[in-house]
Amino acid sequence: MRARKARRADAGAIHRLITHYAAQGLLLPRGEEEIHRDIGHFLVLEEKGQVTSCVALESYGPTLAEVRSLAVDPGNRGRSAGSQLIEFAFAEARRRGVAQLFAVTHAPEFFQRHGFEGVRRQSLLQKTERDCRACPKRRACKLVGVIATVIPERIAVPALGVPARHAAAL
Ligand SMILES: CC(C)(COP(=O)(O)OP(=O)(O)OC[C@H]1O[C@@H](n2cnc3c(N)ncnc32)[C@H](O)[C@@H]1OP(=O)(O)O)[C@@H](O)C(=O)NCCC(=O)NCCS
Repeated sequence: MRARKARRADAGAIHRLITHYAAQGLLLPRGEEEIHRDIGHFLVLEEKGQVTSCVALESYGPTLAEVRSLAVDPGNRGRSAGSQLIEFAFAEARRRGVAQLFAVTHAPEFFQRHGFEGVRRQSLLQKTERDCRACPKRRACKLVGVIATVIPERIAVPALGVPARHAAAL
């Protein structure tokens, strides 16, 4: 499996992956046009010329980014593709000088395996302002916030501890 940044030609494959899990209520749906427009956010894994998994790294200013739309092709689950993409997202975030990564997810345990810690969703103010305020499901929402430190020195007021695994890699 080869990790790389997504290209415009990947938009259809990324859309299929996300749509598959959106139909199960595991991911928020994304339109193909939106993916095409935001293709610079996406990282993918490719195997034998096929995109088999994707993740998006969405910026919230210079020091914060969201990990979203993480999807591994059903036939490839459990083969560490998801883990590889999270590691790639950390590497890319570090390269961009992003201090912290967060996610809002139904699978917090998966993220916790990769150095994220639980955080109250309401404390992710920029996210709730951007996406949750107008969401019809907000009152019944079961999604959980998780956050990880990428570059401790760039956090103005550290609110959370630095996950040891990633701090060691800095
Ligand atoms: C969650 C997901 C990205 C994991 O990717 P993956 O390639 O299957 O996972 P990996 O092979 O890297 O890691 C497998 C390990 O993670 C664990 N894991 C997988 N999905 C998990 C989940 N939803 N919650 C908790 N742990 C999970 C597995 O039990 C396995 O543990 P083990 O190594 O002790 O057996 C993938 O299953 C997926 O696309 N799921 C549907 C979409 C989704 O839920 N996205 C994440 C929410 S934003």
